Amino acid sequence: MISKKTAKAINTQINREFYSAFLYLAMANDAMAKGFKGAANWMSIQFKEEQEHALKFAHYLQEQNVKVELTAIAAPKTEWKDLLDMFKDALAHEKKVTAWISEIADQAVTEKDHATQNMLQWFINEQVEEESNATDIIWMLEMSEGSKGALFMADKQLGKRGRA
Ligand code: FEO
Repeated sequence: MISKKTAKAINTQINREFYSAFLYLAMANDAMAKGFKGAANWMSIQFKEEQEHALKFAHYLQEQNVKVELTAIAAPKTEWKDLLDMFKDALAHEKKVTAWISEIADQAVTEKDHATQNMLQWFINEQVEEESNATDIIWMLEMSEGSKGALFMADKQLGKRGRA
C-alpha cells in the first residue's frame, strides 16, 4: 500500500506534468507565431506526451485507491527570443522534472515501496530520453546559428517528429 506522503508527492507530480504540457503548448504557440511550423509540431507532440505522463501517474494513484486532486496551473512564459532560447528552456525544465521524479523515487526506496519504484522506472527512462532529445536539438540549433538556410532545415527536421 502506498503511503500518504508518496501519494501526495505523485499527486503534485501530476499537476507538474500538466504544467509541462501547458509550457510546451505555449512554446508551440510562440513557434507557430514566428513561422516555425516544424518546431510548433515538435512542441505540440510534446504537449500531448506530457498529458499522457500526467494521466499515467493518475492511473497509478487510482489503482492504489487514491483520489487525484488537480490544482491551478501556473501561467507559462509566452515568448522566447528564438528557437535556441526555447529549447534551452525546455531542457532546463526537463532537468527539473528529472530531479522531482528522483525525489519521489528516493522516497519510495526509503519506504521500501517496490510498486512505486517499479512504476517510476518508466519515467526515469523517459527522462533520459527527453533530456537527450532536447540536448540534440540544442546542438542542431547552435550549429544553425547565423544561417537562415540552416535554421530553415532545422525547423524542417523538427517537423518530421511523429507521434510515438
Ligand atoms: Fe513529463 Fe517531459 O516529462
